[in-house]
Amino acid sequence: SSRIVVLISGSGSNLQAIIDASNQDDYQGKVVGVLSNKADAYGLTRAQNAGIDTVTLSHKDFDSREQYDLALIEKIDAFKPDVIVLAGFMRILTAEFVQHFQGKLLNIHPSLLPKYQGLNTHQRALDAGDKEHGVSVHFVTEELDGGPVILQAKVPVFDGDSSDDLAERVHEQEHRIYPLVVKWFCDKRLTMASANIAGKQVEQAILDGN
Ligand code: GAR
Repeated sequence: SSRIVVLISGSGSNLQAIIDASNQDDYQGKVVGVLSNKADAYGLTRAQNAGIDTVTLSHKDFDSREQYDLALIEKIDAFKPDVIVLAGFMRILTAEFVQHFQGKLLNIHPSLLPKYQGLNTHQRALDAGDKEHGVSVHFVTEELDGGPVILQAKVPVFDGDSSDDLAERVHEQEHRIYPLVVKWFCDKRLTMASANIAGKQVEQAILDGN
């Protein structure tokens, strides 16, 4: 069974969805650790309720992003993870961090990437008058929210929707697709292929059949 480590900053509803899914018989993965950069993240309580080890590592205790990420790498490595799942972990990662976990670092982003990288995705979709919005699960590369997409889910945008309405609709889809992608990874069906083509790094997510 694969060892899953989840990184959070907040509510952890995606963490909960992955814990719940991993409790099913045919799930070849187990959440062995949860790390947060915020001591008051509700996701820590969810993890503790499920008997999962937790670590809080506050970025405020470090002088630089580089130093924080190095400490975070150590804490994560201590769990000997097969896959690292970013679930609402609201930190920009250094190149060193991303390279260290190359090919086994997953993120969920609340937009139909490549649209709306960064923050406030629901409001930006509303402001643009989009008729559909959604969520993407992707491999993490050095390019912020730019790694290869593995799976997306779309939701409709209705007249009069608020940003909260959209966020709620997107969350429902997140809780459906993130546990599924993590399952694929644990089943060793999912890999990230990397190639240097004419001096440019190109990455692609690959899902095996069967
Ligand atoms: C999710 O909507 C996730 O897509 C988003 O944070 C939320 C976390 O919710 N992630 C990002 O915005 C990453 N930049 P949760 O704590 O309830 O899982």
